[in-house]
Amino acid sequence: ENTQLKDIVAHAKEYGFVFPSSEIYDGLAAVYDYGPNGVELKNNLKQLWWRAMTQLNANVVGIDAAIFMHPLTWKASGHVDGFNDPLIDNLDSKKRYRADVLIEDKAAELAKQGDQAGADILLADMGRLLTAEDLAGVRQLIIDYKIMCPVSGTCNWTDVRQFNLMYSTQGSAVEGDAAQIYLRPETAQGIFVNFLNVQKSARMKVPFGIAQIGKAFRNEIVARQFIFRMREFEQMEMQFFIRPGTEMEWYNKWKETRHRWHQAVGLPTDKLRFHDHDKLAHYANAAVDIEYEFPFGFKEIEGIHSRTDFDLTQHQALSRKKQQYFDNDLDPETGKPYGNYVPYVVETSVGADRLFLATLCQAYTEETITEGEGEKEQTKTRTFLKLHPALAPVKAAIFPLVKKDGMPEKAQAIFEELRHDFRLLIEDKDAIGKRYTRQDLIGTPFCIVVDGQTMEDDTVTVRHRDSREQTRMPIAELRNYIGEAVSF
Ligand code: GAP
Repeated sequence: ENTQLKDIVAHAKEYGFVFPSSEIYDGLAAVYDYGPNGVELKNNLKQLWWRAMTQLNANVVGIDAAIFMHPLTWKASGHVDGFNDPLIDNLDSKKRYRADVLIEDKAAELAKQGDQAGADILLADMGRLLTAEDLAGVRQLIIDYKIMCPVSGTCNWTDVRQFNLMYSTQGSAVEGDAAQIYLRPETAQGIFVNFLNVQKSARMKVPFGIAQIGKAFRNEIVARQFIFRMREFEQMEMQFFIRPGTEMEWYNKWKETRHRWHQAVGLPTDKLRFHDHDKLAHYANAAVDIEYEFPFGFKEIEGIHSRTDFDLTQHQALSRKKQQYFDNDLDPETGKPYGNYVPYVVETSVGADRLFLATLCQAYTEETITEGEGEKEQTKTRTFLKLHPALAPVKAAIFPLVKKDGMPEKAQAIFEELRHDFRLLIEDKDAIGKRYTRQDLIGTPFCIVVDGQTMEDDTVTVRHRDSREQTRMPIAELRNYIGEAVSF
C-alpha cells in the first residue's frame, strides 16, 4: 500500500504540486512547499470551502486574523498548560518518540497479528494512564510490551515527559510574560477573540458563524506520511455561535453538511467515514472526525466539535471583558426574550493540506489502455489526475497542431478570448499524444486542438481527460462549454 503513497509523493514533486521545503539543503522535516500546480489546486480547494461557508450561508462571515496573538489568548484557550504530547527518548538509539504513537503502533501490530482483544486492552490502558497523567505508567507499558526492544539486549528508556507543541518566539521590547509570543497552533482563537467585533460590526444575530483560513504551527514530533502531519500547515475553520441548549442540533447539521461537501469536491462516500471521539478534548462535549481512506488507512481530515461556551468563558475570565450576547428572540416557554448569555460554539475544522492530500490520492489514477491498431496495437499504463474540473490547476490547454499555417496565432487568439474566465495554457512542443499525456498528469480536463479545419470553419476539437474522447465544436461555444464543466 505504501508504494502508492510513494507514487503520489513522487508525482507531486515531478509535476510541480509539492516540494520538500528548502530541498537543496536536504529539506526541513515536516515542512513542504507548494509548486505551480499545487498552489492552484490548493487555492481552488480553499476558494470552494470559502464560498461554501461565506456565500452559501447568509449567516456566515469571514475574517483574517493575525498569526501572532496576545500571549494570554493561549493561557485562556488551555494551550499553554494542556497542548502537550508525551515524549520518550530511547537511550540506545538516541531517538525521540511520541509515547502514545509507539503504543498505538504496537496495538496496530497486535491487531494485524489477529490479537484484536490484546490491541484493545493496550489502547484502553494507555487512554486510562494518559487521562490520569500517569506518565510513569505509560513508560511501564512501553517496557512491558517490549516495544522497540531488540531480541537480545536492553531497551533503555528515559522518563516520559510532556512536551508543549506550540512554537514560541520573542515578542517586542515588552518585559515579563508578554515577551514570549506564540505562533498560533489553531486559527480558532483568532475567531473567538473577535466574536463581539464581528457580531457588532456585521450586525450578526445568533445563530451565526465566522470562517477563517490561515496558517497554524505545531511542533509535531512524529513527522510522517508526507503532508498529512506538518509543522506549518493551513486550517479552514468555522466557529458557529449558537444559543446554549441547541448545540446537538447544530452539531448534527454541520456534521452532515461537511460530509456532503467532501463528497461534492470528489471524495467518494465509501472512502469517507465518521469517527466519534470517546475521549473528548478539554473544551468539547461532543466531537467527531471525518476520516478519509488514505493509502495508509482511514485518517482524520476534518474535526467537528461542540465546544460549549468553554473558549468565550475563558476569554471573558482572563480579559475581564464580557463576552455576552443579548438575544431578543422570545423564549416560547416564558414569553420573554432569551436575554444575555455566552453563546455556545460548534466548530468545523479542516486541514487544507490534508484535504489537498486526500484530493490528490483520490484523483491519482492508473489505467491500462490500448493504443493503435493492427500491428501497431500496444497496451500501456496511462496515469492521470481525475480531479473535479473546478479543482484542476489548468482548465484547458490549447494545442496548435503544427507551428505554422496560422495555427499558433489562432491558439493565441483563443487564449486571449478565454483567459479572463479560465486558467489556460498553450502547448506547442512535441507530438499531440505527448501533449495530452502531460496534461493528463496534471489533471487538465480539456485539451483544445487547433488544426487545418479550424482555419477554415473556426471549429476545434476538444479532447476529454477521463474518456479520451474528442468532440468538435465552434470556438464560440468554448466559453459556455468549459464554464459549465468547471462550475461547482
Ligand atoms: N480548532 C480545532 C483544531 O485545531 P484539530 O483536530 O487539532 O482541531 C483540525 O485540527 C484539523 O487541522 C485536522 O482535522 C487536520 O485536518 C488539521 N491538522 C491538525 N494538525 C495538523 C498537522 N500537523 N498537519 C496538517 N494538518 C493538521
